[in-house]
Amino acid sequence: MEKLMNWVDERFPLTSSYKAHLSEYFAPKNFNFWYFFGSLALLVLVIQIVSGIFLTMHYKPDAALAFASVEYIMRDVDYGWLIRYIHSTGASMFFVVVYLHMFRGVIYGSYRQPRELIWIFGVIIYLVLMGEAFMGYLLPWGQMSYWGAQVIINLFSAVPFIGGALSEWIRGDYVIGDATLNRFFAFHVIALPMVLLGLVAAHLVALHEVGSNNPDGVEIKKLKGADGHPLDGIPFHPYYTVKDILGVVVFLIVFASIVFFAPEMGGYFLEFNNFVPADSLKTPEHIAPVWYFTPYYAILRAIPPIFGSQFPGVAAMGIAVMIFFALPWLDRSPVKSIRYRGPKFKIALTLFVIAFIGLGILGVLPSTPLYTVISQILSGVYFAFFLLMPWYTKNDTTKPVPERVTQ
Ligand code: HEM
Repeated sequence: MEKLMNWVDERFPLTSSYKAHLSEYFAPKNFNFWYFFGSLALLVLVIQIVSGIFLTMHYKPDAALAFASVEYIMRDVDYGWLIRYIHSTGASMFFVVVYLHMFRGVIYGSYRQPRELIWIFGVIIYLVLMGEAFMGYLLPWGQMSYWGAQVIINLFSAVPFIGGALSEWIRGDYVIGDATLNRFFAFHVIALPMVLLGLVAAHLVALHEVGSNNPDGVEIKKLKGADGHPLDGIPFHPYYTVKDILGVVVFLIVFASIVFFAPEMGGYFLEFNNFVPADSLKTPEHIAPVWYFTPYYAILRAIPPIFGSQFPGVAAMGIAVMIFFALPWLDRSPVKSIRYRGPKFKIALTLFVIAFIGLGILGVLPSTPLYTVISQILSGVYFAFFLLMPWYTKNDTTKPVPERVTQ
């Protein structure tokens, strides 16, 4: 065995990579609940790729066959229902995990110097993930697939001057059609997953370059022992592999419960209207995107058209996502972790969470004049969280940050 390892090591950095990234990679010893979600995001990525490969074996990316091929998978293919429910549940759970993962970054200031690039790769991952989910949703070719895509692609028509040509170019037709389905299939099964894998690799390389943050926001590399290892660090393997396995087990229990007992999740994970084949002549009465897009959909609907142009709403929706990129430079607090921040940040964050969830709920509901006003207020709160951040983080009271992590 030793001889074999030596043979490999002379040709490939196996042992040295294992040491650098696992057995001698020192991570802060005070990780808590919030540190489960990075490894869980990795797990869901693998689940989606593997279940996706099996779905592709029977799925037909053809407007005349797509819907029936999904029904065939559900009814006739051995365990096809299981594979499909794993994939559809995985899509929603991906966003659950990623939203919690991002929230952790915000509460512990993990986007702050020197981790700006980890964050930026993360936000790009988030954008690509949205594209991946959007394109995947067209594939079953149900009513919601069709009309959801119609609504979103039509938004591009609102772009001044080039809008019409742009939306036509995206669809490959004047309406959503076979050409659209084929290209979305190509992007969903190969182009975007490859981009995602590359981005996740870059995300982790950046993470291992600077090292993890932690719930205290203390830089553990600043205080090293005689052996050259951080005093507050413990080897990732076995300590955090064991911790992550616990997270995986609990997550899989929740995941399996959904897959086996509530795969439609009351219409939130799989919308009821999507069990009806796409019909270009019948617009559903109420078109709503899947839950993970609804906060942005509510922002879109909150902004009224100006001179008949929907562009302001579309721009607001785009900015609402893009603004996450600016976070590292908007935060002027002298401390990273929420543990040592003052009331202003805590109030701002609480209001932001209420606004985000509130918008998410409003995005599912049909719009009424009252809901529109509430959406406008919550959109204001959403943007204020970011735009006022330089002010309230600079003028907040803070507590002294300890030199070592606390247990
Ligand atoms: C496919 C999606 C993603 C995967 C697989 C992934 C994976 C990971 C992993 C394994 C870690 C280390 C473990 C941990 O800290 O929990 C991590 C850390 C981190 N991720 Fe992600 N991530 C993803 C998406 C995102 C997104 C969307 C963002 C933000 C917009 C983000 C921001 C961060 C930050 C800031 C850290 C460092 C956290 C710290 O050290 O406190 N990640 N990621």
